[in-house]
Amino acid sequence: MSTGLKLAIGGKGGVGKTTVCSVWAQCFANEGHDVLAIDADPSLSLGAAFGLPADRTPKPLIQMKALIAERTGTGRDAIGTYFKLNPKVSDLPEEHWLDTGSVKLLVLGGMTRAGGGCACPEGAFLKALLTNTILARDELVLVDLAAGVEFMGRASIQGIDAFVVVVEPGSRSIETANSLAAMARDLGITRVGAIANKITEPAQVAAIASQLTGVALLGTVSYSKSAQEADLNRAPVAAADDMLTQELDDARQRLLDLVCEASGAARPR
Ligand SMILES: Nc1ncnc2c1ncn2[C@@H]1O[C@H](COP(=O)(O)OP(=O)(O)O)[C@@H](O)[C@H]1O
Ligand SMILES: [Mg+2]
Repeated sequence: MSTGLKLAIGGKGGVGKTTVCSVWAQCFANEGHDVLAIDADPSLSLGAAFGLPADRTPKPLIQMKALIAERTGTGRDAIGTYFKLNPKVSDLPEEHWLDTGSVKLLVLGGMTRAGGGCACPEGAFLKALLTNTILARDELVLVDLAAGVEFMGRASIQGIDAFVVVVEPGSRSIETANSLAAMARDLGITRVGAIANKITEPAQVAAIASQLTGVALLGTVSYSKSAQEADLNRAPVAAADDMLTQELDDARQRLLDLVCEASGAARPR
């Protein structure tokens, strides 16, 4: 049985998923939580958002072909390729995460082929790892998901405590958020919240709120030049801009309230 809160962050590409994930990871770590941040996006940018140089960022597990073949027991017979749908992976986080000092970073990577829901050893391996970290680990887990909606078909985030969609002022990001939220609810995830990011005008917040369907707006984050510069310089985004961090922390508090209201549980300390 897991004990720590499990959160996943999704949305259209470029909206700010990785930014939210890294700042929240730091906020939870500052409160004393044992935080495991998982990069499940094929674009692999969570390490950079923590300010890690490229040569210190762990190689994604999805690229470890020999490990995946060993764990899934991949082989061929007269009918075709066979592999285990439920490979053993519970020992892998400890072996492969990078402890940054405050947060543990586990780089899974993601499926890059179209559709993402492929029945292949890599898909089974990723799904098993996500399921294991969500259902069995004690850390507070934050999953930085792949962009878009395709990966949701694999249902690998079932069991998450809350799903957060990030939107920017733009109708396509809102459409993606609404689709993701509906898919999350179909998976039985009851707490779904949104963050309106890169806001430059108050009217944008009202427009976003009116177009979101069945998603609680957790908070708004102003457009930040410093966040953009941090990305350009591969500097930790959590230290780049006090206002951005404060706005994201406020949204995090709203999410924690939502989680506790829904479960009747005491707030995680
Ligand atoms: N509030 C913000 N203000 C300005 N730039 C932002 C903000 N949030 C994110 N960004 C920038 O937008 C880009 C995409 O953000 P990122 O977090 O990588 O998005 P995603 O993970 O959704 O693709 C990055 O260059 C990031 O620094
Ligand atoms: Mg990202």
